[in-house]
Amino acid sequence: MGKIILTGDRPTGRLHVGHYVGSLRRRVELQNSGEYEKIFIMIADAQALTDNFENPEKVRQNIIEVALDYLSVGLDPAKSNLFIQSQIPELTELTFYYMNLVTLSRLERNPTVKTEIKLRNFETSIPVGFLCYPISQAADITAFKATTVPVGEDQLPMLEQTKEIVRKFNSIYDEVLVEPEVLLPDNAACLRLPGTDGKAKMSKSLGNCIYLADDPGEVQKKIMSMYTDPLHLRIEDPGHLEGNAVFTYLDAFCKPEHFERYLPEYAGLDELKAHYQRGGLGDVKIKKFLNKIIQEELEPIRARRKEYEKDIAAVYDILKAGTEAARETATQTMDEVKKAMKIDYFNDKSLLEGQEQKYHG
Ligand code: TRP
Repeated sequence: MGKIILTGDRPTGRLHVGHYVGSLRRRVELQNSGEYEKIFIMIADAQALTDNFENPEKVRQNIIEVALDYLSVGLDPAKSNLFIQSQIPELTELTFYYMNLVTLSRLERNPTVKTEIKLRNFETSIPVGFLCYPISQAADITAFKATTVPVGEDQLPMLEQTKEIVRKFNSIYDEVLVEPEVLLPDNAACLRLPGTDGKAKMSKSLGNCIYLADDPGEVQKKIMSMYTDPLHLRIEDPGHLEGNAVFTYLDAFCKPEHFERYLPEYAGLDELKAHYQRGGLGDVKIKKFLNKIIQEELEPIRARRKEYEKDIAAVYDILKAGTEAARETATQTMDEVKKAMKIDYFNDKSLLEGQEQKYHG
C-alpha cells in the first residue's frame, strides 16, 4: 500500500513563518517528491471550535485565509487534497466510537492539552469537547489511513494518542486502522521558531509573528526590530547566540547560496556566528541579511497569494472539490469500521440469515 499524508491547521488566524518552517515548507516538498499516493491537507475548523465555540465568525473568516496561505506556499490542488474538517461528518462519527477506547485520565495527562488548558484558563471547568480533541484528531488521521503526519513537535502527544487508539481498535475489533508515523522538521530551529520578540512561541495575541501575507515593508520593520542579545550593546562587544531570535531565524532560513548572494565576505553561517561571538559584528548588518533572505523566500508566496485573491470563488471551489474527494475516502474507512464494530446491520446478510435461523429454524 502507498504512503498517505494527512495534516492540517486550525483556522484561527493567518499562517506565519513559524508554520512555514515548522510544516508548510516540508509539505510542499513532500507533495512534489511524488512519493505519496495521496495527500490530505485539512482546515481543522471543528477542532478550532473546541476552544472558539463562542466565536464562530472568527473561525469562518479564517477558512479562506488559511486556504489562501496553503495555495500561496505552493500546495497544489492537483496533487494535494485541501478540505474542511467539519464538512466530513464521518470524522465526528469516528470520534464518538473512539471515545470508548480512551479514559478520562489519559486525556487529562496529555501534555499539550494540559498546557492549553492553562493558557485558556479552562482549569476550573474544562469543556468536554476541548478535552476530547485529541480523540477527534485520531479520527482525522485514521479516517484517511494516513501513514505519515508532518507536524510540529507540539503535536507529538496527539500522535501518541492516535497510535494507542489504533492499537486498541485493531486488537478489539479488526485490523482496519493504520498506525501513523510522525514527521518532524529536521532542524531544531524549525521545530520551534520563536517570536520576533524572542519569546518561545509566535502568537497573534503577543503580536510577535511575521505572517506569510505581510507586505515587504511590514516584514522589514518586524525584522529590523527583532530581539537579539541584550548584552550586545556596542558593535565591538562579544555577542551571544543562545536565545538570539535573529540567529535562530538564520538557522531556519539560511542556505549557503544566500551568503554567495548577499554576504560573500563570509564562507557561511558558522563563520558569521563566530564573528558575532568574538565581537565586532553589528546587529543591523545581520538583520539586513536576514531581511533579504526572508523577503526572497516570501516573495513568490506573496505573488501567488495575489493571484488567488483575484478569484476567491475559485478558492472555495477548490475546497469544495477537495472536501468531496476526502469524504469519499473517509466514508470507505467508516464502512470498514462499522463492519468491524458489528454496526453494519443493513449491509450484513449473515446477520439476517442468522436471525431467521434463530426464529424460524
Ligand atoms: N492540532 C493541529 C494544530 O493545532 C491541527 C490538526 C487537527 C491536525 N487535526 C489534525 C494536525 C490531524 C495533524 C493531523 O495545528
